[in-house]
Amino acid sequence: MTVQLPDSVDYVLLDEGTIQNRVQELATQISRDYEGIHNEDFLLVGVLKGSFIFLADLSRCLTVPHRVDFIALSSYQDKAETTGAVRLIMDTREDVTERHVLIVEDILDTGYTLQYLYRLFEARQPASLRTAVLLSKPDRHEVAVSIDYLGFSIPDVWVVGYGLDFADRFRTLPYIGALKPRVYEK
Ligand code: IMP
Ligand code: MG
Repeated sequence: MTVQLPDSVDYVLLDEGTIQNRVQELATQISRDYEGIHNEDFLLVGVLKGSFIFLADLSRCLTVPHRVDFIALSSYQDKAETTGAVRLIMDTREDVTERHVLIVEDILDTGYTLQYLYRLFEARQPASLRTAVLLSKPDRHEVAVSIDYLGFSIPDVWVVGYGLDFADRFRTLPYIGALKPRVYEK
């Protein structure tokens, strides 16, 4: 079956089935690693807005009890570039001290966002701190940050769908698609 792509989308990089299979694999691995931890102590922290669909799917595939929380950071403006400056817009509701924290992020690009999050949470002394990141663009990394659970490594193209946006559009596409360069290279 061929999918009808929005005009701005060049091609499908990762289709729905491929994403779902990988999310299930990550959830199986995470469930194994966090087995035995009490519900109150295992906290998934989704980074808004980009991770909301990944977090919803990952969370529902986990077989270990956990809680869900969110944090919001400043993201790129309406263009595909970064300044490296990260701003906290909304903090978590839960206290992360002495909890097992798993940061759930959509994509690792330059790495500044994840580096900021590591520093922020480490200062709060969680019992453990790990990251689950759906996508990574190795060609774009500027700072070294480690990922514990990675979905896919992808080339340096702007991607949308499955939570990811361009100027707040395309988040609800069920697949991950590459945007046409002319859309973001302005
Ligand atoms: P970093 O701080 O450069 O690693 O940027 C990470 C953030 O930039 C992600 O959380 C996304 O919100 C955004 N981002 C980076 N690349 C893309 C992309 O290809 N599509 C959509 N958002 C992206
Ligand atoms: Mg993001």
